Amino acid sequence: MDLKQHIRGIPDFPKPGILFYDISTLLRNADAWQVAMGRLAHAVAPAQPHLLAGVESRGFLLAAPLASKLGCGFIMLRKPGKLPGRTVSLEYDLEYGTDSLHIQEDAVKPGQRVVVVDDLLATGGTLAAAISLLRKVGAEVTMAAVIIEILALGGRDRLGVPATALVTYES
Ligand code: PRP
Ligand code: MG
Repeated sequence: MDLKQHIRGIPDFPKPGILFYDISTLLRNADAWQVAMGRLAHAVAPAQPHLLAGVESRGFLLAAPLASKLGCGFIMLRKPGKLPGRTVSLEYDLEYGTDSLHIQEDAVKPGQRVVVVDDLLATGGTLAAAISLLRKVGAEVTMAAVIIEILALGGRDRLGVPATALVTYES
């Protein structure tokens, strides 16, 4: 199955000049959703993670079911003001704007292998921040996994861990 057939490119969202790759159409198609999760599981399983980390919000849609499928735990990397208890945070640049990610400081036991999951690798700012944040709390980050990679932005070069993507676009 060609998963690109199930991903829409919506021009000028969320602002002029940005082409938004929309996974809503993939998620709402039962077969495409199954195929995507199966391919992600196949790519991630060899890393033998203890935990999958999902990046709020679209990363949650993938990381939680994938963790369940692989028999891993799931942890949340969240936007500001959402996580209770003691947290650690990191600010990062987005393709459009800046944001910060937060994690509970006890989310990871020292040395646990973690694979970080998101829907999209664009500039890599989000995943690079996610990886740094996970390391801050003691994780051994072994891999990043996404559905979509935008090649022209070179985001994977910022990550410092192997990245797997199910589909790629030039820009
Ligand atoms: C989008 C996307 C990735 C990130 C990719 O998230 O879901 O997380 O941007 O861009 P980058 O590689 O340039 O950092 P966004 O922050 O728009 O929020 P959302 O997931 O909550 O929709
Ligand atoms: Mg996101």
